[in-house]
Amino acid sequence: MYEDRIRLARLRDKIMSAHDAATLFENGMTVGMSGFTRAGDCKAVPLALADRSRQEHLQITLMTGASLGNDTDKILAEANAISRRLPFQVDATLRKKINNGEVMFLDQHLSETVEQLRSGQLAPVDIAVIEASSITETGAIVPTTSVGNSASFAILAKKVIIEINLKMPVELEGLHDIFIPTYRPYRQPIPLINPEQRIGVPFIPIDPAKIAAIVITEKDDSPSNILPPDEETNAIAGHLDQFLRHEVKMGRLSASLQPLQSGIGTISNAVLTGLIESPFHDLKMYSEVLQDSAIELLDSGRLSFASASSITLTKPTYERVLGNIQNYKSRLVLRPQEVSNHPEVIRRLGLIAINTALECDIYGNINSTHVNGTHMMNGIGGSGDFARNAHLSVFVTKSMAKHGAISSIVPMVTHVDHTEHDVDVIVTEHGLADLRGLAPRERAAVIIANCVDPSYRGMLQDYFKAATQRGGHTPHLLEEAFAWHTRFQKTGSMR
Ligand code: COA
Repeated sequence: MYEDRIRLARLRDKIMSAHDAATLFENGMTVGMSGFTRAGDCKAVPLALADRSRQEHLQITLMTGASLGNDTDKILAEANAISRRLPFQVDATLRKKINNGEVMFLDQHLSETVEQLRSGQLAPVDIAVIEASSITETGAIVPTTSVGNSASFAILAKKVIIEINLKMPVELEGLHDIFIPTYRPYRQPIPLINPEQRIGVPFIPIDPAKIAAIVITEKDDSPSNILPPDEETNAIAGHLDQFLRHEVKMGRLSASLQPLQSGIGTISNAVLTGLIESPFHDLKMYSEVLQDSAIELLDSGRLSFASASSITLTKPTYERVLGNIQNYKSRLVLRPQEVSNHPEVIRRLGLIAINTALECDIYGNINSTHVNGTHMMNGIGGSGDFARNAHLSVFVTKSMAKHGAISSIVPMVTHVDHTEHDVDVIVTEHGLADLRGLAPRERAAVIIANCVDPSYRGMLQDYFKAATQRGGHTPHLLEEAFAWHTRFQKTGSMR
């Protein structure tokens, strides 16, 4: 009975079809939609919006928490419904439009979008479209598998459309902790001093008069498409495990480590899965996304608590978790991404942040976003929020991409997302470079010796040797720094 999920009875009059709700959109509007790493996104209204765009050439600025599932970005991009998109995406069709210059993409630190909205630095949200499992007696929204930017979108928007998803268990209520920082410059500190703490309310409080439409849906989130661990990701996990054991032995970390953050994607997931075999115990996560690895760690008992902004899982794990949400709820919390990714909290908790690089250079600068320095892959996501402020900032990558045609360690990265100042450790399947306390020339020697594939190591040693002969604190041969990339563009290989 979907009426039971709308506990403020007078709002039931707002139930309408997605098609009717989509008539609320106007050309040029800014729309804030729920959804973060394919979790908790709206399933029906975006499709109705795409239909309208196809007929009426209507275009919007689309803001979300992060990536959307159900091919929503693809469908909206194909319908030419998006003129501007922020702050993150992972869709191949949208990516193509971004790289063709047809869609203006703002690649933002995920903690910052609503901060900029709240302070009027971004155009205000006209309509928020939020997926909910229920609406409370006061008209507040109970989100589903992500919080992302939903709370601030709904609070700041002029109108709100709510999708009640009947596939989402009502028991999700109580999973979320909605805390919204006060306005600057008189803001108080965020009172979060451990990952388990709840500092807000379990729903998004809004003025019910703003609710313009309620649409009923019945559809699962898209399953995560991460690949299982392989030989190389297992080797990366092994090196990191040895490093963390050493840190414990040296007394720099306890056997419970410090709260863990792990980025999106196959490699980060595989690295975290590797901790199941580790001697560490009573681990905690303070991350933005929980992938399958977090659930496996919870099930194994290694992890005692996980805080994040979304849960994105493969199909079998999704069914297990949502089917038993009561069992997991006491060990999980979902927060707005501006809290899960807040520099103040990350610095206070002393996180071990593990993120994935597209490429890194011999001095430890990291490119997470731009293939060959020009073409957007996904976006920086939360990696900058975490890397800049973590206790230990780790970047992982396979040493080569595209069957060895690309070395992931290059003389100079073609785009910098994380500077050498924000990177403590780099790990590939060949080994780990601990860069703490090292000057650039020392960093280069360790990265080349430990992380580069042997088939590229000699070339990189020659580059570094010739560069040091020219001198400098961070030696380079400017005329050759991007030669590996231009060679790949001309010949299809960096070799
Ligand atoms: N040059 C060109 N392409 C490269 C590359 C390089 N140096 N390194 C990797 N790639 C390609 C891979 O070949 C693969 O391509 P495919 O999709 O055509 O197979 C793709 O990038 C993804 O790489 P993969 O090795 O499968 O790793 P991943 O799934 O772990 O993703 C990132 C890696 C960097 C793309 C991903 O982690 C990301 O978008 N990071 C930025 C956001 C972020 O870190 N968020 C963290 C907080 S959640």
